[in-house]
Amino acid sequence: MIISYFPKYVAVLALFVLSVSALDTFIAAVYEHAVILPNRTETPVSKEETLLLMSKNIDVLEKAIKLAARKGAHIIVTPEDGIYGWVFTRETIYPYLEDIPDPEVNWIPCRDPQRFGHTPVQERLSCLAKNNSIYVVANIGDKKPCSASDPQCPPDGRYQYNTDVVFDSEGRLVARYHKYNLFAPEIQFDFPKNSEFVTFDTPFGKFGIFTCFDIFSHEPAVVVVEEFQVDSVVYPTAWYNTLPLLSAVPFHSAWARAMGVNLLAANTHNTSMHMTGSGIYAPDAVKVYHYDMETESGQLMLSELKSWPRRETISPAAVDWSAYARAVKPFSSEQLNFPGMIYFDEFTFTELKRNAGNYTVCQKDLCCHLTYRMSEKRTDEVYALGAFDGLHTVEGQYYLQICTLLKCQTTELRTCGEPVGSAFTKFEEFSLSGTFGTSYVFPQILLSGSQLASETHYKVSRDGRLQSRGQTPLPVLVLALYGRVFERDPPRLGQGPGRRQ
Ligand SMILES: *[C@@H]1O[C@H](CO)[C@@H](O)[C@H](O)[C@H]1NC(C)=O
Ligand SMILES: *[C@@H]1O[C@H](CO)[C@@H](O)[C@H](O)[C@H]1NC(C)=O
Ligand SMILES: *[C@@H]1O[C@H](CO)[C@@H](O)[C@H](O)[C@H]1NC(C)=O
Ligand SMILES: *[C@@H]1O[C@H](CO)[C@@H](O)[C@H](O)[C@H]1NC(C)=O
Repeated sequence: MIISYFPKYVAVLALFVLSVSALDTFIAAVYEHAVILPNRTETPVSKEETLLLMSKNIDVLEKAIKLAARKGAHIIVTPEDGIYGWVFTRETIYPYLEDIPDPEVNWIPCRDPQRFGHTPVQERLSCLAKNNSIYVVANIGDKKPCSASDPQCPPDGRYQYNTDVVFDSEGRLVARYHKYNLFAPEIQFDFPKNSEFVTFDTPFGKFGIFTCFDIFSHEPAVVVVEEFQVDSVVYPTAWYNTLPLLSAVPFHSAWARAMGVNLLAANTHNTSMHMTGSGIYAPDAVKVYHYDMETESGQLMLSELKSWPRRETISPAAVDWSAYARAVKPFSSEQLNFPGMIYFDEFTFTELKRNAGNYTVCQKDLCCHLTYRMSEKRTDEVYALGAFDGLHTVEGQYYLQICTLLKCQTTELRTCGEPVGSAFTKFEEFSLSGTFGTSYVFPQILLSGSQLASETHYKVSRDGRLQSRGQTPLPVLVLALYGRVFERDPPRLGQGPGRRQ
């Protein structure tokens, strides 16, 4: 009798422990890491040399992990390419790779280091997680042998994957994610055959995971949020900022807000590559961010987040992104339009000639409307309203619909769309909207000096207008409604015609 009751008792107890240990909030940490890079080489170096270089990087990450744990963090995210960098060929990265097993094998490398061959990097990361009782998210390379019976097997007989790993606070491997949407220059890695939707459960919510360029995607980024209903996403990235529209902090924070999840984004740090911009973003606020083009140092950030943001916040009414724009008549069209390039895409622009006004500019199916008032129309600064509706085709393929108001680099109209860092013109009022054919629109506001506008200064109305709020005039660099039309994407963003498999 006693024996037959015993397991039931244990089960009840276990449930109880699980429910009391669930946390309403948790402390998240992200570390922006200035990666110590290997020397450029054409020929692969020895395994010993790769371990030496990786140890140097992990020594730096270890300090951040220990400090984060001491400050009470439950999870820490480190960047993509954070352990060996990004300058490789297929051959030269090979000695850096380890065979990473499927987490269902239930493995704590720190306790059982020999179980899957020689895996010193996984062992060390697992021990860091275990010894400091913290979830550790890192990005390393996976290798999987394949044979000629697999028609897609590369000629050298192995797949090489850009891979995120997660070790829980006991050091157990709980997640492995192979980056699906490789960025075009990542010639050292293979595309996985299928998109993986990787999630892991913690006492502080359900997590999803993907990497860098994946954030442009429907699979896995949107699917993991909408179908797998995660609360938070951990996001290692090696993102180089390109103004005006593709700067890490505004782009990532806009994604978290639009998707209604926490995003823990850890970027690499290298100012000559314009790599900086990490942060902890909640759906309703940017909790903390770091952007530093002055120094070559890393940076640890921590912030408290809600474990179940879906439960706790009254879910915001869905925005109908084209409601307002379709209802109004296009504003007068006395103005001349002109073309301008933003990151290889040809926008249609129109100049804002006065200190206040209403403008419409259209391209294909997208019409963008702007109502604005500046404090003064300066003679040394020119602003333009732009529209783009088309397939982006450089370094990946993805369909965009974008409305943007931006400062031109100089007073010459041909520089509209080119990067510029500072602005003096203050906007007292703005309202930007567009006839979008998608519900995935990511609003961004970037102020002079690449500063984010605080949430108190703007709002998104239910009918799809990005509007100023309050009286503070803002020195605007860029306003944008960045729309993604997933139905019009090719099957894989990183796989354009003429590219390697
Ligand atoms: C790169 O090469 C220099 C000069 O040979 C050497 O001093 C340095 O240690 C090397 N760095 C790495 C990471 O191997
Ligand atoms: C973890 O702790 C053990 C002893 O408790 C120690 O041998 C090991 O070096 C530590 N590892 C790390 C990565 O901190
Ligand atoms: C930044 O990256 C570039 C290109 O990969 C490299 O040449 C340079 O040494 C890096 N800078 C630092 C400080 O590591
Ligand atoms: C812009 O349009 C609104 C109504 O649509 C009008 O009230 C306002 O006066 C216009 N502003 C300018 C500067 O033309």
